[in-house]
Amino acid sequence: MRIAHLSDLHLHPAGALRAADLRTRRLFGALNLYLFRAGTYSEDVARAAVEAVREAGVDHVVVTGDLTNLALPAEFALAAQVLRPLGGADRLTVIPGNHDRYTPESVRDREFERWFGDTLWSDGDGGRAGSFPVVKDLPDGVTLIGLGSAGVVAPACAFGRVGPAQIARLADALDDARRRDRFPIVALHHNLHRRGTLSEATGRLLDRREVAQTLVRHGARLVLHGHDHREHEMVISDGPDLPGVRVVGCGSSSADPRRAPPGQFNVYEVSAGRLRVEKWRIRRENGRFAPSRG
Ligand SMILES: [Fe+2]
Ligand SMILES: [Fe+2]
Repeated sequence: MRIAHLSDLHLHPAGALRAADLRTRRLFGALNLYLFRAGTYSEDVARAAVEAVREAGVDHVVVTGDLTNLALPAEFALAAQVLRPLGGADRLTVIPGNHDRYTPESVRDREFERWFGDTLWSDGDGGRAGSFPVVKDLPDGVTLIGLGSAGVVAPACAFGRVGPAQIARLADALDDARRRDRFPIVALHHNLHRRGTLSEATGRLLDRREVAQTLVRHGARLVLHGHDHREHEMVISDGPDLPGVRVVGCGSSSADPRRAPPGQFNVYEVSAGRLRVEKWRIRRENGRFAPSRG
């Protein structure tokens, strides 16, 4: 079983922003986008990543959020078009990030769900896709659990919260006896590690302690996240008696190769309960992604 992990595409087509949008809290995001992020995240790099995922030969693709900048319909439409070559909703799990829940209006209008809600199916949900956590029993003994951590927050903030109800359902899914011998992979947008002072003060996962404890105590094997645009890896544990859980952030998959860090995505291969990670990074020389083993 090979799973590709992309994140934080932050797509924004030219002309997507209208003057009326600036009267909402999108003003803060637009300033951030045009002052600090201009030229960092590229549609061409995102398309090159999708092309490389196709070359990599994967069975499933997970995107851990922030496909857009301001949750604008035109941004979602572009993201859907860029990801289309990856295949249908049966082989795709797209989780919203804080930028995909940017305004109360976009949440009320279910803008993210309009474009990607069909990828949030769970086994046995009878087609009622969209409520977190999503739980998918995939081939080769892999179970994929998607958590929703993004909601509308105050302007200039990027906090996340999974919440007690979802954490309880995560524990139940991990404890399910039918899944005892499976390899559970949990995906969410927000990172579990501490970042810099400003990111901690304005954009951390507020209940990360509870989430991390649940992951360790109930036997997750691998955690995938985005939000931090730099790749990051750590093992979380809860004492010597329990095995640690590997936590991997793949960074942004659309970052221009002339910027640091350049665009990246990962491929996780699970075979007979063992994990191998391939890190694919864009090359400055030719604008194409290539793998290295890690
Ligand atoms: Fe992001
Ligand atoms: Fe984010």
